[in-house]
Amino acid sequence: MEAVTRNFFLFLSKNNLLNDMAKKRGSSIVTGKIIAGTDFPSSVQIIKDLNSKGLTTTVDHLGEFVNSEETANKRTKEAIQTIETISRENLDSHMSVKMTSLGLDISRDLVFRNMTSILDTAEKHGVMVTIDMEDEPRCEKTLELFKQFKESYSCVSTVLQAYLYRTEQDLKELSVLKPFLRLVKGAYKEPASVAYPDKKDVDANYKKLIEQSLKSGVYTAIATHDDGMIEYTKELAAKLQIPSDQFEFQMLYGMRSKTQLDLVQQGYKVRVYVPYGRDWYGYFMRRLAERPANISFAFKGMVKG
Ligand code: FDA
Repeated sequence: MEAVTRNFFLFLSKNNLLNDMAKKRGSSIVTGKIIAGTDFPSSVQIIKDLNSKGLTTTVDHLGEFVNSEETANKRTKEAIQTIETISRENLDSHMSVKMTSLGLDISRDLVFRNMTSILDTAEKHGVMVTIDMEDEPRCEKTLELFKQFKESYSCVSTVLQAYLYRTEQDLKELSVLKPFLRLVKGAYKEPASVAYPDKKDVDANYKKLIEQSLKSGVYTAIATHDDGMIEYTKELAAKLQIPSDQFEFQMLYGMRSKTQLDLVQQGYKVRVYVPYGRDWYGYFMRRLAERPANISFAFKGMVKG
């Protein structure tokens, strides 16, 4: 049943009509709950509040699968402004970005040009930019771009997904570059030809990758809300004597807020992924697919109107 619900929400997450309706209807249901605001300036205070509690952040301008060059260029300008604001406001924050929002589906030249402008600004201001990982058909292109950017920029990082069969090998190849790497279970609907269909296999692979990454000296961000994985990481790091400045935990804004603070109290570094923007529909549906209870506030909001 769980798999059916997950597939249903992941199917809906790619529906353009519902996406457009969600944008028009507004984001009041999700603002301040799982997204910080409709634009970056209106999200700054939330980031400052998180920073003041000892939480660091990575900000994400929602929006993906862009198919016009004009929109991709506009997204690039906005990302540059976000980096400048992070620096000006002295926020303790990275930025996350999706390659499809910068034109990956239009042309390699376009996404390369746009990301180069972003990284030039990021390098100047010392802000790390993480390339989020999207669905499997875009994985190879995304990793190839990451490797190329990593040759020229130290401020670029990326994400690997434990549900993909290919990830163990990708991690081996990336390790030599000594990147800042985020490990996640994976959020998209993928066929069994490329990804483990069973959750228990994804979990087992996630543990294996955490160990592989920590042992290889990579700075590893363990991005999960799963207590089992958090405890596993803590015990492993203690056993392997991994220094506390070689790993961090990451969680999404609005999810497990108490756990985030508990980890900070225990001396761990925690980064909160803070989304903002009007294009919240796909993100929202993926969170529903993961755990409908995460978003129960939205159903209450819909019932109340
Ligand atoms: P999972 O959904 O497997 O749940 C395991 C258990 O954790 C649950 O049974 C429950 O016990 C507990 N749990 C989960 N959520 C909880 C909650 N809110 N409250 C209480 N208990 C809860 N994906 C991707 O494909 N590309 C990407 O770039 C990213 N980036 C990213 C950044 C960050 C910071 C995070 C946290 C996640 C991502 N993801 C992602 C999403 C990721 O792939 C994955 O889909 C979700 O994190 C859900 O998996 P979990 O490991 O959190 O737990």
